Amino acid sequence: MSPRFLFGAQRSNAVLFIIFISSLVTSFSLSYGYDSLDPYANITITWDFHLQTGSTYDITVSIYNFQQFRHLDRPGWKLSWIWKDDDQVIWDMRGAEAMEQGNCSKFRSSPQLPHCCKKQPVIIDFLPGAPYNKQFSNCCKGGELSSMIQDSSKFLSAFQMNVGFGKTNNITEFMPTNFTLGIPGYTCGDAFLVSPTRSSPDGRRWVQTLETWNVTCMYSQFRASPSPKCCVSLSAFYNSTIVPCPKCSCGCQGLPGAKCLKSGEKSPHLLELPRVRENEEVPPLVTCSQHMCPIRVHWHVKQSYKEYWRVKITITNHNFVKNYSSWSLVVQHPNLRSVTQLFSFNYHPLNAYGNINDTGMFWGIKSYNDMLLASGQSGNAQSEMLLHKDPGIFTFREGWTFPRRISFNGDECVMPPPDEYPTLPNSATTSRPSLVFFSFLILVFVF
Ligand SMILES: *[C@@H]1O[C@H](CO)[C@@H](O)[C@H](O)[C@H]1NC(C)=O
Ligand SMILES: *[C@@H]1O[C@H](CO)[C@@H](O)[C@H](O)[C@H]1NC(C)=O
Ligand SMILES: *[C@@H]1O[C@H](CO)[C@@H](O)[C@H](O)[C@H]1NC(C)=O
Ligand SMILES: *[C@@H]1O[C@H](CO)[C@@H](O)[C@H](O)[C@H]1NC(C)=O
Ligand SMILES: *[C@@H]1O[C@H](CO)[C@@H](O)[C@H](O)[C@H]1NC(C)=O
Ligand SMILES: *[C@@H]1O[C@H](CO)[C@@H](O)[C@H](O)[C@H]1NC(C)=O
Ligand SMILES: *[C@@H]1O[C@H](CO)[C@@H](O)[C@H](O)[C@H]1NC(C)=O
Repeated sequence: MSPRFLFGAQRSNAVLFIIFISSLVTSFSLSYGYDSLDPYANITITWDFHLQTGSTYDITVSIYNFQQFRHLDRPGWKLSWIWKDDDQVIWDMRGAEAMEQGNCSKFRSSPQLPHCCKKQPVIIDFLPGAPYNKQFSNCCKGGELSSMIQDSSKFLSAFQMNVGFGKTNNITEFMPTNFTLGIPGYTCGDAFLVSPTRSSPDGRRWVQTLETWNVTCMYSQFRASPSPKCCVSLSAFYNSTIVPCPKCSCGCQGLPGAKCLKSGEKSPHLLELPRVRENEEVPPLVTCSQHMCPIRVHWHVKQSYKEYWRVKITITNHNFVKNYSSWSLVVQHPNLRSVTQLFSFNYHPLNAYGNINDTGMFWGIKSYNDMLLASGQSGNAQSEMLLHKDPGIFTFREGWTFPRRISFNGDECVMPPPDEYPTLPNSATTSRPSLVFFSFLILVFVF
């Protein structure tokens, strides 16, 4: 990076350039599955062997969502694994069920047929309100798991099964392989033995465990989908320009395979929606727009007071086939350390690095705006936020009042390029060389 470049024509955009570089750096780190805002994020599956009875084991499987701000929305998890041995079958289950029974003809002569004889069973959660005799503690959420911040009492799902030994009755050799969660973007590692937990399936009685195995699954947005799922548009009270989402943020209108609905042609197309099973994710069908994103987040710098400034955040659902329930928004902005008042959303600061509190999470208020209804059903949620103008750092210049980074449901949104941000009237003449020099120093420091 040559200094001449900075002091040349790009002078007034130097700070924006730095914002751009830092957002590039964070988005690169995201694609490797590591999120600097939630460094320990994972989903852990624990597999508890309880007492063996005859030639079967009772096994409790629990799925913990150890992610601060990424939840599992419907259709939720579909857990699968591969048994080592053809004779390992699931005789009975509580709290969940296998999607297919498979070929159980081998067990024709037994008094009761197994629940599932597949080498690779796929287990799905019951919907809420499952029959009482099929329930298990922490079960029956339709595969949904809350993020830890949103509802730390609902970040666990569990089910119990009774499984035949197969040829081996050595518990260590019993453990299946190739775990998957059935949700795009998650990959699971191998099971590893941990010290046995004493588990309490019904929350009251403790049950002895013979052996406990953990499986860790990690999310990567890059693996989940090659194209982003949301974008950001910007505006400010001091400039009438509304900076739209970048063109082709999530797809390009008119390209083969890019389907969208023009406003006014809703009903006939809706009847032709692809028919998918209850527990499968429907591919998005969006309103025709230049960005083609299912979700748009608009950040409007609304007002300036003597000591405070006000921002309005609007989230709009452009997807015709999905209601986003328990949505969450993560915003990075240096002024979030001085949030004074927030309307209509919940807020929790995310301080992954101790005292650097420039990031926070927003989510809807239960039964008020925690559901973003599908497009065509006025699917949007709005909030206003009052922030204190911290002396020394606050400025309306150089796009400082706009967010550095926004993600929706844990997926990074596409931001407009910084050189398009709404500018203050006559801002070209107000940029100070000292600011440029300062940013040059930072650049020298970073590279
Ligand atoms: C089921 O498995 C048995 C052997 O266990 C096999 O003979 C039979 O053909 C299989 N049936 C189907 C439909 O695959
Ligand atoms: C069970 O298998 C493990 C690993 O294969 C082995 O180390 C252990 O000795 C076996 N235990 C018994 C009781 O056979
Ligand atoms: C199971 O995983 C191993 C490596 O992790 C892989 O080589 C194998 O192909 C997988 N098996 C199936 C059926 O996917
Ligand atoms: C295994 O998973 C449990 C939660 O399910 C967790 O508390 C424990 O720390 C994990 N153990 C290891 C060694 O990762
Ligand atoms: C979204 O929710 C509304 C109201 O609960 C319901 O009428 C609609 O069918 C749902 N749409 C989808 C795509 O699930
Ligand atoms: C952010 O941190 C600063 C000091 O580092 C502290 O004064 C402020 O109260 C914190 N704000 C929030 C919202 O946590
Ligand atoms: C508003 O911002 C745009 C940049 O997005 C700029 O081109 C335009 O000159 C600004 N308008 C005024 C009146 O300053």
